[in-house]
Amino acid sequence: MLRDALLRLSTRPAIGRGLARFPLTRSVVRRFVAGESAADALAALEALEGAGLLTAVTYLGENVTSREQAAAAADVYCELVDEMRRRGLRTTPSLKLTHLGLDLGEDLAVEHVQRVLARARDTLVWLDMEASPYVDRTLAMYRRLRRRWSNVACVLQAYLYRTEADLRELVAGGLRVRLCKGAYREPPQRAYPRKADVDRQYARLAGMLLSREAQAAGAYPAFATHDERLIRVIADQARDIGLPAERFEFQMLHGVRPDLHRALRGRGVRLRVLVPFGEDWYGYFVRRLAERPANLLFFLTQATRGRAAADR
Ligand code: FDA
Repeated sequence: MLRDALLRLSTRPAIGRGLARFPLTRSVVRRFVAGESAADALAALEALEGAGLLTAVTYLGENVTSREQAAAAADVYCELVDEMRRRGLRTTPSLKLTHLGLDLGEDLAVEHVQRVLARARDTLVWLDMEASPYVDRTLAMYRRLRRRWSNVACVLQAYLYRTEADLRELVAGGLRVRLCKGAYREPPQRAYPRKADVDRQYARLAGMLLSREAQAAGAYPAFATHDERLIRVIADQARDIGLPAERFEFQMLHGVRPDLHRALRGRGVRLRVLVPFGEDWYGYFVRRLAERPANLLFFLTQATRGRAAADR
């Protein structure tokens, strides 16, 4: 219920604008978001790559309502890609189609994504998967872009009932896919309501991505999860089938389970950390609170402490 309530709140950006006025909110948000500027993100990316990790970056924002906002988001990605190349970073951008104008028209979003893909050249660009009303359009755009661009990759969410069929179809095309559990508020008609079922489905889909058929088709799976049990199961499965370390990777979010980084690297597997940045952090931040109730408790404790300090 708490998850549901938070996910409802995550779609109310006006609340975020209110919260952002409190300096304390910003300090708590910093746990999950590198900062508001590209410079903040670049510093975090350099630190992670310096520690031997792979990196991805996302410029926060979603559901833009004007063509100017969509163009500006694409501009930020293009400039970021140039700057990352200049600094020798091998970071892969990860973007939301609604940030690049999908709500204003598919052609507009495609135009902007293509600008980013062209600028990124041989660097992979991930199309994040958003709430279920966007899944068909996102997959259609992925297929359309794949015909022309080899550096585009997509994301699938294990909590949706439809994902097994989507995966089966994409596997045949040698896809590059990030498998995540899914972070949005979905009705039981579309997604498994129980976490145990989502976890079970994740393991099944991971098995499909590691199957002989998927590997023969050239699949490069990225397993985006902080779930230690699943990570162990997948890493063991990959070892058992003799899959080389460079044929798959794990992915995690900045600020979530950094304690696992060293252990995973010690096992010789590839680990990529996704660094988010930007002023529009609200939806992303509240989804992180929803994933783990303890985060909300931490946020409220910090807020109460800050309030008490201010009253003194
Ligand atoms: P799960 O929720 O089962 O938690 C397992 C453990 O991980 C917890 O016990 C805790 O220790 C830790 N943990 C997980 N979340 C935490 C948090 N917020 N704070 C602190 N600890 C936490 N979703 C989506 O719908 N579309 C997308 O495009 C993406 N993209 C994406 C990229 C990357 C790189 C990652 C890692 C994740 C996404 N996601 C996503 C989010 C994903 O769907 C999912 O909501 C989160 O990863 C949480 O699920 P887990 O599998 O990590 O574990």
